Parts: sequence; structure tokens; C-alpha cells
Amino acid sequence: PTIFVITPTYARLVQKAELTRLSQTFLHVPQLHWIVVEDSPHKTPLVTDLLMKSGLTYTHLHMPTAKDRKLQEGDPSWLKPRGVEQRNEGLRWLREDRRAQPGGDTQQGVVYFADDDNTYSLQIFEEMRSTQRVSVWPVGLVGGMKYERPVVEGGKVVRFHTGWRPSRPFPMDMAGFAVSLKLVLANPDSCFDGEAPMGFLESSFLQGLVTMNELEPKADNCSKVLVWHTRTEKPKMKREEALQAQGLGSDPAVEV
Ligand code: UGA
Ligand code: MN
Repeated sequence: PTIFVITPTYARLVQKAELTRLSQTFLHVPQLHWIVVEDSPHKTPLVTDLLMKSGLTYTHLHMPTAKDRKLQEGDPSWLKPRGVEQRNEGLRWLREDRRAQPGGDTQQGVVYFADDDNTYSLQIFEEMRSTQRVSVWPVGLVGGMKYERPVVEGGKVVRFHTGWRPSRPFPMDMAGFAVSLKLVLANPDSCFDGEAPMGFLESSFLQGLVTMNELEPKADNCSKVLVWHTRTEKPKMKREEALQAQGLGSDPAVEV
């Protein structure tokens, strides 16, 4: 089955570096279709060009985050959920596109939400490829912990190892689950709720699709970390700004 990877992304200094790293990981994954959704009112030349040269099978979409939902400079990063409208736009495209394909709602496939800054081992894609409904696994370096993971007993997920609000329906990071295409197509209205309280974004999507008892543990009964919630430091531009003030800034024609 094809893995459809939905990635929200937005313009900032590290965007090209993030997308380069991600695309070069994905080049090693067979049968992967990358759905890149820019948080922007239009497709940008940087992303358009990067995708064209990537060698990947991809779909390029865009969907700006509504102004009142967007983080403003100086806001703490947890204030508002990120990538919501973009993931929902990816789901909308996928449902529409797949309905037009032969086989309709019974197509094999797996849907995974891959943020542009995380680190993905190739193994995680082979783990998720056999997803029947919703598969789950640990995520490293997340939630103020070494890792968060579903706890598996007798082959079933019975609870979650997390440092914060374990009572959430699905206390998991976005990087810790994949959903079968069939389930996505069978639930045409399920999507991410941008109004969900902090930490409940993943639950808002999964709640209507699956119960804890049905989750399929991967990565050796959730004992292996194969994806990391890494976050890229914002580059400092102090010298750049100082030089710019003297008219000696870096050439704006050089794409970074
Ligand atoms: C954590 C989770 O790992 C995310 O999946 C979740 O969306 C996020 O919290 C949340 O609470 O909304 P974190 O590292 O804090 O992730 O979030 P980012 O990596 O900054 O953003 C998630 C994705 O949205 C990234 O792919 C990023 O490129 C994209 N994004 C971010 C936008 O499209 N627009 C923005 O304004 C910010
Ligand atoms: Mn992130």
C-alpha cells in the first residue's frame, strides 16, 4: 500500500533546510506520496521548485491559517495549534482524489501526518505500512519526556506513558500514529479541530475513528523509538542585521 504523508509547512528561515532533510528521507521510502500543504495564501516559488526537483511523487497544496488562529510573533508556541487547516486541506484533497480513482472507498493505503521538523527513521514507514485501522508507536523527545508511548499488554494498548494529562482520549503526538486510507474514506467528515483545547488536537481527529482497544501497536509492541519530535532552533540574525544596516547584508537573490 502507498503511504500518503501529509506535511504542513510555512515560510521561515529554516524551511528549505527542513524540507530538504525530509524529502531526502522520503526518497528512501518506496511507494510514498507526499502531500505538502503550505500555510500560505499562494504556493511559494521556494516550495514549488524544491518539490519539482525532489524526485518524489507529490501533491502541492496551500491553505492559509485564518488570521485569528495564527500564532503572532512573541506568542508562546503552545498558545494555538499549528498545521490544523493544512492537515485538513490535505485530507480534503486525498478524499476527493481517491474517490475519483478506480476501487473507490476500498483502496489500500496509509495516511501519516509528518511535521516538517521531526526526524523519521526509514523503519517507521515499514512499520506503518500494514496499518488496518490506526497503528501507534512511541515518539522520542516529546512532551518534556525522553519518549511518550502507548503501553502494550497482551498485544493491546491498555494505557499511555505520558507526562501530561494521561486522561486525554489519545495522549499521543501527531508523529505517533497512522491511519488506513479506508478508515479516512469511510469517515468523510473526520478532521482536526482547531478549537480543541491544548493537547487535544490528535484526540479530536482520532476520537471519531477508533477506540483504544482497537489500536495496532507497532515498533515491537511500542518498545522502539523510530521517530523523534525534534525542533529546530530559530537561527540568530544579529550579524546579518548589523551588516544590513551598513548596506552589506547577504545577497537576497541567494535562496537559503
Ligand atoms: C506539536 C506537535 O508535534 C504538532 O503535530 C502539533 O501540530 C503542534 O504541537 C500543535 O500543538 O499544534 P510543534 O513542534 O510544537 O508540534 O509544532 P510545529 O512543528 O511548530 O508545527 C507543526 C507543523 O505545522 C509543522 O509541520 C509546521 O511547519 C506547521 N506550521 C507551523 C504551519 O503550517 N504554520 C505555522 O504557523 C506553524
Ligand atoms: Mn515540530
